[in-house]
This record gives sequence, structure tokens and C-alpha cells, in this order.
Amino acid sequence: MEFPRDLLFRAAHTAVVAAIAGGQAALRAWRPRLGKSEKSAPRDLVTDGDLAAQQAVCEEISRAFPGYEIVSEEGTFPGSMGELRWVVDPIDGTTNYYHGLPFFAVSVAFCAGDEPLAGAVYDPVRHELFTGVLGNGAYLNGARIEAPCLRGLEEVVFGVGLSYSSGEMGEFLQLAARVAPLCSCVRSLGSAALALSYIACGRMDCYLHPNLAIWDAAAGVLILREAGGLITGFDGQPWVLGNGPSLAANASIHRQLLEQLREALLSVRQA
Ligand code: IPD
Ligand code: CA
Ligand code: CA
Repeated sequence: MEFPRDLLFRAAHTAVVAAIAGGQAALRAWRPRLGKSEKSAPRDLVTDGDLAAQQAVCEEISRAFPGYEIVSEEGTFPGSMGELRWVVDPIDGTTNYYHGLPFFAVSVAFCAGDEPLAGAVYDPVRHELFTGVLGNGAYLNGARIEAPCLRGLEEVVFGVGLSYSSGEMGEFLQLAARVAPLCSCVRSLGSAALALSYIACGRMDCYLHPNLAIWDAAAGVLILREAGGLITGFDGQPWVLGNGPSLAANASIHRQLLEQLREALLSVRQA
């Protein structure tokens, strides 16, 4: 479906304003190892900073786009604009944030259903703003970014993310353990939004995750795609937001990684 260009750019502007407001609120509320509670799993935290950032983001969105649904990790606010909606992660990297690890971001995306149309990922510690608009490229602090062309897996910085549910970790970790040694090095950053944005600008080259939520991925996936990256399921099929295990990667090595993952899956399941 085609969306009016001015709507996309207006949404991109709002995503930026909201993500920066959320990042500033998160920094103001940042008190490492204080002010947390647990959600569905003991490791799944929410902090005062998540709630402060969410409030700041949602205020900016509601001011510029009244009546639109906002699906945010810490709460959903209903709207009446059909499939057009906002998807927000007020702090992606809450575990880092809580422990004082300066590595987290605010993720804000404008979507048609599960398709991201415009988005921003803002790292308030480094003042880095990643943005993307469907069909119009990806940017870091206003400069165009593209994932570089790699010669092979030996050049790959292999990123991996984990879920909070220990039940999902077993097979996933075995797969990652078989493919990662073929690559240059392994990193687990603790923020999916930043990992996806980092593939977009060539700091990392792939990111394997067992079950990204829509708020983890909506803005980062758009930025990744607009920079020439790909995200699929482990079966190579297109990955839809919130839809099980995913392989996000630099397009030049995505297929090689997928082949290695398939082989790993066969041998793990036969063992
Ligand atoms: C988490 C982070 C982490 C990923 C988890 C996410 P949160 O988001 O993105 O890197 O591995 O699956 O839930 O809880 O910090 O917003
Ligand atoms: Ca998240
Ligand atoms: Ca979060």
C-alpha cells in the first residue's frame, strides 16, 4: 500500500522528537540499581526510568498525532485510526539501564499494522540518533548510512540477543554456538534496537534473536532494511514483527549465515 509522503515525513519528525524526549527523561530518572520491579519473568524488569520515558514519548506522539493507537512495552493506549499506529519501546536495554551499563535506547516507530513506515532509535548517552523512512534511506545523526559489503563470514561481528524466558534459550544457544565460531567475534549488547541499528551502519554484521517483541524491533528493522540489511526467520521466510526467531544481517552475508544456521539446526535436532 502507498502512504502519502508528507504523512511519512511528519511521522518521522514526531518519532525523532518523541525518542529524544524519552531519552532525556530516561537520563533524568537514571539511578542504577534503584527503582525497579519485575514483570512476567524474574529477569524482566521495569524501572522508574521506563515509565518516565514512556510518559515523555507518549505525550509527544499524542500531541502531534492525536487519536492514534500507541503500543508501548509498558502500556497500550487505544486509538481509532485503523491499522496506523505507533509502536514504542521507552527503554530498550532496561537490564543495562538498571545496572548502570550505559547502553540503551528509546525506540519509536510509526507502523501500518506490522509494517514500519518511519522510525527513530535514540541513544541518549552517546547522543546518537538513528532514523529511517520507508523508501527513503537510513541515517545516523542526519548522515546517510549503509551496511558495507563483506567478503565472508570471517569478517562478521556476530551479534546475539537472548530472551528473558530460560525455556527458549536451550536450542537457540546451541545454534548460536555452532555458527558464531565461523565469524570474527561475538557480541551481545543487551539492546535489540541498537543491535539492528548497528548492523545498518556497519558496526555489527548480524543479530540472532529467539523472539523479538514488536517494540524491540519496529524502528530498528526499518533502519536496518533502509540501510540495505535483511531480516528473515531461521527458515529464510520474511520476518513479520513479533514473529519468532529472527536472523537480521548485512545483506552480503545473510544467505551464508542462513545456510550455516540450517545445518546447525539439523545437527542440533539429530543429536
Ligand atoms: C530487551 C533487549 C534485549 C533483548 C530482549 C529484549 P528490554 O528489551 O532488547 O537485548 O535480547 O529480548 O526484551 O526489556 O530491555 O526493553
Ligand atoms: Ca525491548
Ligand atoms: Ca523496554
